[in-house]
Amino acid sequence: MAFKKNILITGGAGFIGSHVIRLFLEKHPDFRIVNLDALTYAGNLENLKDVENADNYVFVKEDITDAEAMQNVFRDYQIDNVIHLAAESHVDRSIANPMSFIMTNIIGTVNLLNAARHHWKDDFAGKRFYHVSTDEVYGSLGETGFFTEETSYDPRSPYSSSKASSDHLVRAYHHTYGLPIVISNCSNNYGPNQFPEKLIPLVINNIKHNKPLPIYGDGKYTRDWLWVKDHAAAIDVIFRTGKDGETYNIGGNNEWKNIDLVEVLCDKTDALLGREVGSSRKLITFVKDRAGHDRRYAIDATKLKEELNWEPTVQADEGLEMTAKWYLENEEWLENVTSGNYQKYYEEMYS
Ligand code: NAD
Ligand code: TYD
Repeated sequence: MAFKKNILITGGAGFIGSHVIRLFLEKHPDFRIVNLDALTYAGNLENLKDVENADNYVFVKEDITDAEAMQNVFRDYQIDNVIHLAAESHVDRSIANPMSFIMTNIIGTVNLLNAARHHWKDDFAGKRFYHVSTDEVYGSLGETGFFTEETSYDPRSPYSSSKASSDHLVRAYHHTYGLPIVISNCSNNYGPNQFPEKLIPLVINNIKHNKPLPIYGDGKYTRDWLWVKDHAAAIDVIFRTGKDGETYNIGGNNEWKNIDLVEVLCDKTDALLGREVGSSRKLITFVKDRAGHDRRYAIDATKLKEELNWEPTVQADEGLEMTAKWYLENEEWLENVTSGNYQKYYEEMYS
């Protein structure tokens, strides 16, 4: 069967990528989806078990830091569109080991840009390079204000700096070579399949095991949380209807101080576990702050709403409840990813 588009989705075995892949496979049976992922500690094909046999799906295990492999994938699968999510994504890891962030987030992105340029030549009809990025490139807000698409970049962690670099390079390929690109910068995501090093799944997992809930610093750091499937829906809308060369901010309009969020998670998880509601709050433990911790992120997503008609659909109360429920019900998934068994399995399978 001839597909209307051959879309390379990078990082599809990760948290957000797996939700994007599932949405595209279901919504666009006439697009072939090529999921390219190196299966790092954060990539897990279990996330896509239910869709892995779809007729329009191919999985390719490659590393985006391998320039030649990227050229080959473009050639072998006649790639005409890219949705680039593959990245090292955890701020704490970027503080401990910046180099893997430079390699994957910057060099890897340039390898993909070069492959797109090389294979599309100057024929850009029907082509698009969509780069998925983060609101962290804008730096840190005080008590008030929001990030808009016009906010100057001011990244402050190795993670956000590497993402900012990649955003600049994607824009440079548009201005310099005419590559048809689009970028979105999204706030913190939450929901099923997030690796339990990030705040929300870590807290739910620790509540379940009666382990301390580490709160960095004074706990008043603020994030704008978005239900992951709403992010996937925004990516679909921007991919199909966004304008070339444009940037769109995506946000949940759902700000929480970390401590307030963790208290709500305690109560919801207690209720689901049949424990006395509030009892897990005693697990909350204030710990040493993250180095260079950004105080507040908040997104103004007006442009996306007014121009492309996208809005978040899931409110915090419902979203946090569904999330706690998912992690409690998917015990095997959680145990696999925390035990490292799945990594050993991949090493054997793909060695
Ligand atoms: P994740 O860490 O869960 O997944 C990343 C995926 O990329 C994994 O499957 C991993 O195996 C793969 N990967 C990593 N290095 C690779 C390499 N060198 N080659 C090929 N594949 C590689 O990340 P996520 O939270 O799903 O984030 C996806 C994207 O969205 C990232 O670009 C991130 O910057 C961006 N983003 C994330 C959030 C968030 O809250 N999680 C918010 C805004 C933007
Ligand atoms: P995280 O999920 O790592 O996302 P990001 O750093 O990209 O925003 O962290 C969300 C917030 O929670 C951030 O302010 C750091 C804080 N945090 C804790 O207080 N304790 C933890 O154990 C973790 C992982 C994060």
